[in-house]
Amino acid sequence: MRLTIADFVKTARSGEHLPLVTCYDHSSALIAERAGLHWILVGDSLGQVMLGHPDTIPVTIDDMVSHAASVVRGAPSALVIADLPFLTYASPEQAVASARRVMQESAVQAVKLEGGAPIIDAVRHLVELGVPVMGHLGFTPQSANQIGVRVQGRSVEAAAQLIRDAEALAKAGAFAIVLELVPAELAAAITDRVSVPTIGIGAGAGCSGQVQVWHDLLGFSQEPPFRHAGRFAEAGRAIEQGLTAYAAAVRDGSFPTAANAVSIDVETVAAAIALAERG
Ligand code: KIV
Repeated sequence: MRLTIADFVKTARSGEHLPLVTCYDHSSALIAERAGLHWILVGDSLGQVMLGHPDTIPVTIDDMVSHAASVVRGAPSALVIADLPFLTYASPEQAVASARRVMQESAVQAVKLEGGAPIIDAVRHLVELGVPVMGHLGFTPQSANQIGVRVQGRSVEAAAQLIRDAEALAKAGAFAIVLELVPAELAAAITDRVSVPTIGIGAGAGCSGQVQVWHDLLGFSQEPPFRHAGRFAEAGRAIEQGLTAYAAAVRDGSFPTAANAVSIDVETVAAAIALAERG
């Protein structure tokens, strides 16, 4: 049975820290499901890690639908949340049209929107219409061209704005809020103040849960990992070693072996050749 928003909120309220991971494709979702990772975000970070774009700006609703649908199929018990892409929720009406497409075409259970005050009306409208919304504050990658890639909320004014935004999102009905690149003390204070779970990434241990990008977490990225990224496996290196060994085995003739093939007797082959030659 698939987990629900109510299960998510109940688990957070029980005091258990929620582990979320991003996921973008069917085979990764199968692995997440086997590992007991039941809260999955199909982030628009797929623009970078799956599609090779420099940032999340080029990601389209079609991209989100295709990746999110494959994740939903691979993780039958997970709560799956998908990002609405850049400028697809600039008004409440546009947000409804975008959420309708993403939810109907991929079957995710919720959508995530980045930002504070400017999107509160869209969040409220979606929630009133029955769409579960996760908020996202702090460093919001879709605004990177404006705010840069840096920690947010360091000054008193900026921190106060983040607190106000978090409270407004909770009031508008968001069921949880991602806090990205926010100083740990501020994230903990927001977590204490708002009525909904907070999910941190680069926001310290005081949030209700954590989210990490699959490729950072499991060692797919070549670059040195971000300071806030946990590294719990070296899957990229393991895959590279596997591919190198495969290529060497094909080159030196040690793969495939008889065990990798199906055989028939040589008389059958000889008879087939004779038959083929008769035309
Ligand atoms: O797109 C994404 O992967 C995200 C997470 C980093 C929270 O928004």
